Amino acid sequence: MESQVARESRISGFYRLPLSLRRRAVSDVSGVDLDELIDSLDRGGLDPAQADKIVENVLGTYGLPFGIALNARINDRDRLIPMVVEEPSVIAAASNAARIVRGEGGFRAEVREALMTAQVQLTEVSEPERAAERLRASSHDLLTLGSRAVPGLIARGGGPRSLEVRDLGDGMLVIHVYIDCKDAMGANLANSVAEAVGSEVARIAGGRLGLRILSNLCDRRLVRVTAWATARDLRARLEEGVDGATSADDVVDGIVAASRFAERDPYRAATHNKGIMNGVDSVVVATGNDYRAVEAGAHSYAARGGVYRPLAVWRRDGERLYGELEMPLALGTVGGTLRVHPTARLALKLGQVTSADDLAMLAASAGLASNLAALRALATEGIQRGHMSLHARSVATAAGASLEEVERVASALAARGSYDLAAAQRILRDLREQ
Ligand code: MEV
Repeated sequence: MESQVARESRISGFYRLPLSLRRRAVSDVSGVDLDELIDSLDRGGLDPAQADKIVENVLGTYGLPFGIALNARINDRDRLIPMVVEEPSVIAAASNAARIVRGEGGFRAEVREALMTAQVQLTEVSEPERAAERLRASSHDLLTLGSRAVPGLIARGGGPRSLEVRDLGDGMLVIHVYIDCKDAMGANLANSVAEAVGSEVARIAGGRLGLRILSNLCDRRLVRVTAWATARDLRARLEEGVDGATSADDVVDGIVAASRFAERDPYRAATHNKGIMNGVDSVVVATGNDYRAVEAGAHSYAARGGVYRPLAVWRRDGERLYGELEMPLALGTVGGTLRVHPTARLALKLGQVTSADDLAMLAASAGLASNLAALRALATEGIQRGHMSLHARSVATAAGASLEEVERVASALAARGSYDLAAAQRILRDLREQ
């Protein structure tokens, strides 16, 4: 893993540079060799022969935009955030919010413990309480048995750490084995441990063996990110005279009110969390991780108290705004698709990722940034203004505009307030005839 630290995550005028110069600028600040960067990106990820070995019935591969969010500072370190996403404005929004919180030191992130949960289900347990006691008394032997199934992990310093018994009623017991998976996401490791201990668990408890599988509600693998922003930085670069917040203080109050809305209403919490996942998933996909597992974990954690709640909340702290995100994130920097995917490996390099915990902190920071950007826009000028200007660029590209023509076609579309392909084609024709 790369040990060098990004010199700067701020590159002024980055979005206006042509693609080739953007690549050069990123190579300069990250220290990743330009040829390696170009080669990895232009190969478009996996080649079909590699893809054919990963899943079934392969016909080819599927590309998505790969970008970098700028301005992030996480635990006093400048970081580039690699993001893969098809939605316009997600990367720009995360970069803007990272710039806003940077003034107050950037993101503070931590992973306190990183344990995956393997579940073993038992049914028809006639004396659940006594069975649970026997299982707890055998935990050392069961953990040893589980360890034998994952010798590679044990060699890397990880392995099963503890065991918990849960009584689900009607003779159903569930045993959780908590496993330190080090830099692996850990699904296969957790499943191997669950399968290895299953029969012995059933013998000790005296029940019928059921499922043996990891839980994606990995609430023993939580990441926490916090950030502060001044009212002045939140107000900066917003349009004057638009509906909604007008003063810097209004912007803070508006974001806090938006957070309260999500805290009281699951309908809003779902959209609030979707905004968070814009940032999180983009990093998860860029680094070749399992976004379905991350989504399942995030939403089940959001609903853990019986009501679906926001994963991040915002409060006023004196003159400043304070935000906090907590969510489960099971990510890996080794194994799986990562072994063969050149662009996922590039993403880890560009992000200067040092471990799976570090990657969780990077992805969660992107999540908190995305959430802040969305709430700030919603509490002030609304989301559509920024969206539409980016949408205009993609319509312009679809109409056949070259890199030099895109901005002019997009501006003309925005000026007319019409964003359809035919309008873009007309504008492009006129432009070329001038
Ligand atoms: C759009 O992808 C995400 C938002 O809807 C999030 C939110 O409403 O907080 C803008």
